[in-house]
Amino acid sequence: MESGELCDAVFLDLTEAFDTVDHKISLSKLSAIGVSPSTLQWFKSYLSHCKQRTACSDAMSDPLPMTFRVPQVSILGRLLFLVDINDLPLAIKNCKVTLYADDTVLYYFVKEPHLLEEALNDDLLQVAQWLQGNKLTLNLSKTKSMIIVRKSDMHSYNMRNNDTIKLPKIKYNWGKHRSRYHCFKDFNELERTVRNSSFKSCSLCNLLHVLMTSLPGSLGWRVTGDKTLEFARNPAEFIQRNIRTCNSRVFQLRVLNKPHVLVASNQGVKEILEDKDGVLDMGYKDFGYMYSLYGDLVIFNSDDEAIRLRNILHNVFRPEEVTHYMSDVEVVSSRLLNSIEDNDIVIPYKLFKQLTTEVCLRLFLGLEMETAKREAESVVELTITHWHGLISVPVNFNVYGYKSGYSKAMVAKNNLLTIITKHLSEEKNGFINVMRESEFESKTEMANHILLFVSALVPKALASLMTSFCIELAKPENLEKRIKAAQDDRYLENVLLEIKRMWPPFLGGRRLAKQEVIIDGYKVPAGHYVGILTRAANCDPKIFPEAEKFLPERWDTCNQLDRDRVWTFGSGPRMCVGHKFIHKIIKLLARHLLQSYEWELVPGQDLTYKWLPVSRPKNDVQVVFTKIAL
Ligand code: HEM
Repeated sequence: MESGELCDAVFLDLTEAFDTVDHKISLSKLSAIGVSPSTLQWFKSYLSHCKQRTACSDAMSDPLPMTFRVPQVSILGRLLFLVDINDLPLAIKNCKVTLYADDTVLYYFVKEPHLLEEALNDDLLQVAQWLQGNKLTLNLSKTKSMIIVRKSDMHSYNMRNNDTIKLPKIKYNWGKHRSRYHCFKDFNELERTVRNSSFKSCSLCNLLHVLMTSLPGSLGWRVTGDKTLEFARNPAEFIQRNIRTCNSRVFQLRVLNKPHVLVASNQGVKEILEDKDGVLDMGYKDFGYMYSLYGDLVIFNSDDEAIRLRNILHNVFRPEEVTHYMSDVEVVSSRLLNSIEDNDIVIPYKLFKQLTTEVCLRLFLGLEMETAKREAESVVELTITHWHGLISVPVNFNVYGYKSGYSKAMVAKNNLLTIITKHLSEEKNGFINVMRESEFESKTEMANHILLFVSALVPKALASLMTSFCIELAKPENLEKRIKAAQDDRYLENVLLEIKRMWPPFLGGRRLAKQEVIIDGYKVPAGHYVGILTRAANCDPKIFPEAEKFLPERWDTCNQLDRDRVWTFGSGPRMCVGHKFIHKIIKLLARHLLQSYEWELVPGQDLTYKWLPVSRPKNDVQVVFTKIAL
């Protein structure tokens, strides 16, 4: 209204709303919003046992089954009505809709009065069809319309060809209705809506809570019901399939032979990462092999110990320190990126893996490829062997000259620690100096952290992000986006955020529930693992419209308030310590590329991604670089 628009509102009144609810329709709607089959059965039983009879003086009729009507005074009746009416807004194209129990208001804001009539009439016809399909009836005499306008422009609306709503003057508390019901997409959202509504204190909340407790999916039998292999074979497809079959972005299953609840909803992951009740443990210490490969690190510790280590590491990655470290990144990136010749065909992952490995060695160990080539190469080999230990079977055997992958990884770890300790006593380089001056309790503790930073993990994750950036902007449909990113720094920020959203290097993470905990409306029992499905949650259509599309513009439009709902670097108390530093590195590399080159995909390639151990194209995708003439 303040911006000079006028508003037309239509207040729909349903005839005997609660008495006309069709049970069959209610049950199909409950199923559509993800109510589990057992809960559905429960509703069916409740409805089929509702009977009605008529009393007249002392006479009483026989009870007859009801196929329509939900009791308005009962909690279940209200719930069923809400579910019934909930999808009405989906039938409406032009107007905004607010729902509050059986009150429905359509309103339409517009600058040009002549557009009002057409838009509202259009929607009212849709409403009439929807009502007919849902066996509900509009009480035309009580359905009103109101124009909120400086100079009123009177007109009439058609519900059907011959029904017309008149325009009496009515009084309406606008603010009250605006803050009430909006359409919900599934049962979780219904629960949240009810919690935030004026029903807050009523037992409808408790009822929903009870109904929400059965987790979709199945844990299956121990060993035989385990889904680890299926998951590892094609995680992205596996996750989508389970979302579809469970009709829910939160579902349970057995992986690594332990009960897991996998969470692919953006809201669910937010709740896990924030861990407001402090009941989710990192749970890594249970996986002895990972712990033995990395030693005592912040990621394995909980509570006070983790806070102490985080504080130290935050100091190491203070903005002033990071600015110093950036000169090392610049030296390596200039040398490697400037070496791309005009019309070179490049395999981005290979290029960036080499670049990020060199950056990490130089930065975290003071090792330079040019001057200490041999030592640097042997460290790279050791980090790769060490990394392979993570995905090998954690069995330590060393017989007849044959070593298990795990025992090789342990040897590599010890060799790496010897090299790190040597550099820690000798190196004058910025990063190691800052580490040395930090308040770690022992040299071993400090060395373990450096081991994590130089391990193949960080270079691979960095290379993964840069590869996705390069390939996405090499697609012909993204040519304009690349040109804009080269000219406009804010747009480049949006591009990088969109890359992080769509192509997080790590598929996810996990926690162990120390106590029972509610996640996105589902009750997760104590002792269950909670899997964070980062990629799926970053692409949750409930938050991100056209979630599978690369749309940097979204961050200035429909998702401008959601910049902190991308979980690629975690969030909350265990958020990645290195994320700002990583952002600086990828931005420097991205700018360098954008200012020096144009690039495009070699046509006809398979761009399918694989997700483990880090996200990247399955095959060696090729990109042609052309130098920009200065
Ligand atoms: C592209 C590169 C990186 C990605 C995608 C990444 C991602 C993540 C994610 C998702 C977490 C949260 C794990 C969880 O909540 O379970 C995390 C934690 C962590 N990251 Fe990173 N990280 C990257 C680089 C780095 C770098 C360069 C450093 C330091 C040099 C670093 C240090 C840490 C530490 C210490 C934690 C543990 C924090 C804690 O548990 O309290 N990361 N990282």
